[in-house]
Amino acid sequence: MSNLYYQAYKKSMENPDAFWGEVAEDCHWHKKWDKVLDDTNKPFYRWFTGGEINTCYNALDYHVEKGNGDRIALIYDSPVTQTIKKFTYAELKDLTAKFAGALAEQGVIKGDRVLIYMPMIPEAAIAMLACARIGAVHSVVFGGFAAKELAVRIDDAAPKVIVSASCGIEGAKIIKYKPLLDKAIEIAKIKPKSCIIYQRAMEKAEMISGRDYDWNQVIDKAAPKDCVSVKATDPLYILYTSGTTGVPKGVVRDNGGHAVALKWSMKAIYGVDEGDVFWAASDVGWVVGHSYIVYGPLLKGCTTVLFEGKPVGTPDAGVFWRIISEHKIKAMFTAPTAFRAIKREDPNGEFIKKYDISCFKTLFLAGERLDPDTLRWAEKQLKVPVIDHWWQTETGWPIAANCIGLHQFPVKEGSPTKAVPGWDIQILDSSTQKRITTSDIGALAVKLPLPPGTLPTLWQNDKRYIDSYLAEFEGYYQTADAGYIDEDGYVYVMSRTDDIINVAGHRLSTGGMEEVLADHPDVAECAVLGVADQLKGQIPVGFLVLKTGVETEPNKIIQDVIAMVRDRIGPVAAFKTATIVKRLPKTRSGKILRGTIQKIADNKKWNMPATIDDPVILDEIKEALQGIGYASSKK
Ligand code: COA
Ligand code: AMP
Repeated sequence: MSNLYYQAYKKSMENPDAFWGEVAEDCHWHKKWDKVLDDTNKPFYRWFTGGEINTCYNALDYHVEKGNGDRIALIYDSPVTQTIKKFTYAELKDLTAKFAGALAEQGVIKGDRVLIYMPMIPEAAIAMLACARIGAVHSVVFGGFAAKELAVRIDDAAPKVIVSASCGIEGAKIIKYKPLLDKAIEIAKIKPKSCIIYQRAMEKAEMISGRDYDWNQVIDKAAPKDCVSVKATDPLYILYTSGTTGVPKGVVRDNGGHAVALKWSMKAIYGVDEGDVFWAASDVGWVVGHSYIVYGPLLKGCTTVLFEGKPVGTPDAGVFWRIISEHKIKAMFTAPTAFRAIKREDPNGEFIKKYDISCFKTLFLAGERLDPDTLRWAEKQLKVPVIDHWWQTETGWPIAANCIGLHQFPVKEGSPTKAVPGWDIQILDSSTQKRITTSDIGALAVKLPLPPGTLPTLWQNDKRYIDSYLAEFEGYYQTADAGYIDEDGYVYVMSRTDDIINVAGHRLSTGGMEEVLADHPDVAECAVLGVADQLKGQIPVGFLVLKTGVETEPNKIIQDVIAMVRDRIGPVAAFKTATIVKRLPKTRSGKILRGTIQKIADNKKWNMPATIDDPVILDEIKEALQGIGYASSKK
């Protein structure tokens, strides 16, 4: 039982210092670390303490200085604007240095936060790298979030500068970003000193004199800035992700561990080398975009693709194959939902036949459970390995995967394969806190310390970090996913243990949506839960109990709450269905029986909970669900 995977895994468990110390030699350090793993302040483990590094240097300058300045670093492929633009490493470095200079002229210094609210254009990556260059901490906010969500992030990160664009393009729609940004700044308690706005040809944003600056003007005037040395443990970015309440969690990523782990992952997990073309079809607003559109491929010296489009409709379900063929993609990464969308439009893969995709070697899918149908369809159509892998915003890179750069294991449907080197995954029993060694379902937890590149804490909130991740099982990080490990060491991720749902690969909090619904003047009580959806995996459905004596037309209330969620959280929530019920089913202690409602909605087998307050309510719920097209079969 010895292949490269087992050797790496064993070494990472038995001697993490030696394992990661060796891996870290692959990065350029301004000053070498004193300690690889620093456990002096447990449970706040730190990696490469005493070391100094610059992530942007490693992602750009390093390759230019090695003589690879002419290699293509980034391909911007935008079917929605009919643009394909390529940037060499030297060009991307120069643009980034200039924009770093522009940020410095706005007073941004090491440690300052810069919020980036941008569509999928190269300037988003340039802004991120420019922050890294001068040691500023970026916080990218996904464009599909509404002004209020943006305001919450502004207040938490307190950015000195915000970088945005006049608009994004969503299929055929133009989404004006600037009015959303203006509204967010108006709502936020903390105001940025200035905003730098990229004006796109199809939409000119109105600028606020004295606060807003035009991207092209500031970059023209700016003197390029060199990379500064930062501590390995200094933050590179904050990325907000859904928690169990409406207040998002500010996941912090450090510089040193992140550069080390991501660069290593490109070959070990994704099987790509420098010079290869790698494409993550996601958005820079998500962790996949941070790790595998921007940092990972550039650290490795690959060519990365920044795609402004959708898997279908821009212009058709063949766009993925066109890009693979045209840019010679070796490996790509997206969410299963993208493949479900393509499969729905082109079930027989007619579009695939039009392109030569012989360059394509592996498809990676993550972000939500990979359903066997989609797995089989992708395998059949593409005739390459389809690799499911499991990770989270918090972890920054995969926890479990088929590490094809080390050893390719046979695929088992429903499993993202085995723990990646560095990750000691265990199944724990929530009630006894003990390890489950059979193939029974329990909490998926990771024994501390987490490997480099994972979250060291939440932004300015050590307490919430401990409470959310470390408090439940002493000595472990709890992933909030439930699952099991089979006799061959294959991990199975079955469901979340909290109220997070996954809609089209986007992570959303049903608790956050409930907070919005509860604000409607006619709503006494509510629940939101995720029900199965053929395209998006899950979609949120709201249940509303109205206050007594309400006279408003029920349909009007439903339309109101749908509009409220869109307005406060954003279109990305995809909240389009709600129903009015008389009561919500609860346990005798008052807990809403979400699991049971979900099973009824999804036509799954369910048992009458022993603790239910009044069983008749479940019949009412079923009737309400049938009214909106769910729960069609018998219990
Ligand atoms: N800015 C503004 N609005 C956005 C947005 C953005 N960056 N991204 C999404 N939206 C909007 C959409 O336009 C849509 O609005 P609508 O209700 O007016 O139609 C809404 O948010 C929901 O978007 P989405 O969930 O993406 O649904 P969709 O129907 O537009 O597309 C898929 C469905 C499956 C094609 C798409 O979600 C997809 O490609 N997903 C897979 C890739 C991915 O991004 N994964 C993330 C992690 S790997
Ligand atoms: P995010 O933080 O947005 O990346 O979402 C992370 C969550 O998505 C995980 O906690 C899982 O619930 C889910 N997830 C991600 N990848 C997978 C996968 N391969 N299989 C099952 N669930 C996944």
